[in-house]
Amino acid sequence: MSVQDEIDKIGKCFLQDLEKVQDSSSLDQLRIQYLGKKGPIQGLMPSLKNCSKEERPLLGKLINELKVQVTSTLEEKKEALSFLEKNQRLSEEKVDVTLPGKKKFLGRPHPIQALMQEALEVLSSMGFDIQVGPDLESDYYNFEALNFPPDHPAREMQDTYYLTTDKLLRTHTSNVQVRIMEKNTPPIRVVAPGRCFRNETVSSRSYVFFHQIEGFYIDEGVSFADLLATMQEFWSRFFNQKIEIRSRPSYFPFVEPGMEIDVHCTNCKGRGCKICKQTGWLEVAGAGLIHPEVLKSGGIDPEKYSGYAWGMGIERLALLKYEISDIRRFTENDLRFLSQFP
Ligand code: PHE
Repeated sequence: MSVQDEIDKIGKCFLQDLEKVQDSSSLDQLRIQYLGKKGPIQGLMPSLKNCSKEERPLLGKLINELKVQVTSTLEEKKEALSFLEKNQRLSEEKVDVTLPGKKKFLGRPHPIQALMQEALEVLSSMGFDIQVGPDLESDYYNFEALNFPPDHPAREMQDTYYLTTDKLLRTHTSNVQVRIMEKNTPPIRVVAPGRCFRNETVSSRSYVFFHQIEGFYIDEGVSFADLLATMQEFWSRFFNQKIEIRSRPSYFPFVEPGMEIDVHCTNCKGRGCKICKQTGWLEVAGAGLIHPEVLKSGGIDPEKYSGYAWGMGIERLALLKYEISDIRRFTENDLRFLSQFP
């Protein structure tokens, strides 16, 4: 076969092979196959030697043209293929933004926890340290150290869950008072949030556990006026408005005098409504000056120091704040109820 024929044949074969190429990696193989050192075009070079001097420049030119032709054809094909491949990839990776998304459920704090947090933020901005005591408590810290003698009838005010004769589930957060007094010296300014338990008949108004925040301040010369001023300030900040408070005498063995703190109904501003049962006032805390016997239990000299304490129920505040009529809603874990809170 003449060199001329071979050139034509290689050109034809190349075009036939090119037809079969479907993707850029086989195109690359074809390029190496034809243009590589061991390829047919390069293979023509030795046969030039056997040609006559006259033929050689012409044949050399033809071989060169074949090379240029093959190279540019490969180049065009490469561009066409990469265009196709890119389109295919894009269509495969396409995201349909109109498809419905997967619904994610966002958790949030329980309304009682959220409200407790709000109250604690106000209190800590007023200079109170936040501390916690145990839920499982001894008779001593829950009762005895708080001036409840063993046979004191006041123990019956708080129906207690006893685990043993000495271990019980705390009935109030006042159990932290003596624990903290034992470890600190005045001035002591502490608030203690926590869960409390009472063996009560479950109803719309009471449940077997609930949350309280205890607060107390012990220093030289702490007076009843300090207690009232602190209450006034706290409740005003908590309800975000200037709020009237009043105190009514009440009895708790660990305070003397003891009282109940009421705030002007936030709903009717004292005119009387369903929430305050037409009284114009809401009962929000038990309070008083810490009994000298309790200070003594905590190793604090009642001749030198005095203090006030108060305790408030968070569920009660939540019932008032959100106008909920049944305390059991808070423990039913019903998302229809819980998701209404911010
Ligand atoms: N511990 C009392 C209760 O649970 C509330 C209270 C706390 C009263 C501190 C006076 C002082 O009812």
